[in-house]
Amino acid sequence: MASHPIGVFDSGYGGLTVFKSIASLLPQYDYIYLGDNARAPYGNRSFDTVHQYTLGCVEWFFKMGCPLVILACNTASAKALRTIQQQDLPRIAPDKRVLGVIRPTAEIIGKYTQSGSVAVLGTKGTVNSDSYKLEINKFFPEINVYQKACPMWVPLVEYGEYQSEGADYFVKKYLDELHSGATNIDTILLACTHYPLLADKIKKYLPHGINIVSQGPIVADSLADYLARHTEIEHQLTKTGSKHFYTTDDTADFDNHASVFFGEKVQSEYVHLKG
Ligand code: DGL
Repeated sequence: MASHPIGVFDSGYGGLTVFKSIASLLPQYDYIYLGDNARAPYGNRSFDTVHQYTLGCVEWFFKMGCPLVILACNTASAKALRTIQQQDLPRIAPDKRVLGVIRPTAEIIGKYTQSGSVAVLGTKGTVNSDSYKLEINKFFPEINVYQKACPMWVPLVEYGEYQSEGADYFVKKYLDELHSGATNIDTILLACTHYPLLADKIKKYLPHGINIVSQGPIVADSLADYLARHTEIEHQLTKTGSKHFYTTDDTADFDNHASVFFGEKVQSEYVHLKG
């Protein structure tokens, strides 16, 4: 029988933090995960480049039989999703769906804040796109959204330095910078796939009582809700509970890192993408 899995995409390993929550809430579906490690990180790349790379990966998922693809990468969600949904899908695959991580998070973030001031921490690309500010204010116009790019955090996690003193330095530095330009924040959104691995250190340098919100559980709940409402997509999905992992770069390297992000042993296969 042909497999019709849910595709989960990230520029690299980080999306595994989101995939982990999805697979634990919805274990019945088949999944394939693709990390575009050969071209990661996406965080500092232009709109055009992120769109071109992400679209190439989305087309690969479609060839693999996925009716639905989740962009678990914030940068890809911020810089490529809208163009893919509005321009590419009607042309290349009108019956397939691609969803991101920004909207589900924006829809719910207002429920965490009492003070009405929220900080969004992400890559330069995510912050400069203003996507979170725009989406959050669509749902919660009264909320003040402060944004802070934390460009050193992804490399610290990528290189396995997220428990080091260097990580303490850069966590404190960006949080101090955030607080010097913002007041009354009671909620911090980790709007990057890698940041949940720094959550303990982030907590250490924040005043007591601030909510730290990771996206995995939010995106998983939102996907469950989407599938309940879109039976035309849900009915196409195969349900044998399988999980397959692919990377555009070295598989041994992927497997080593992936187990940290995913919390269990991962065995990946190589996929060659042009471009
Ligand atoms: N996955 C990216 C994100 O969530 C972080 C890594 C990258 O810059 O590619 O924004």
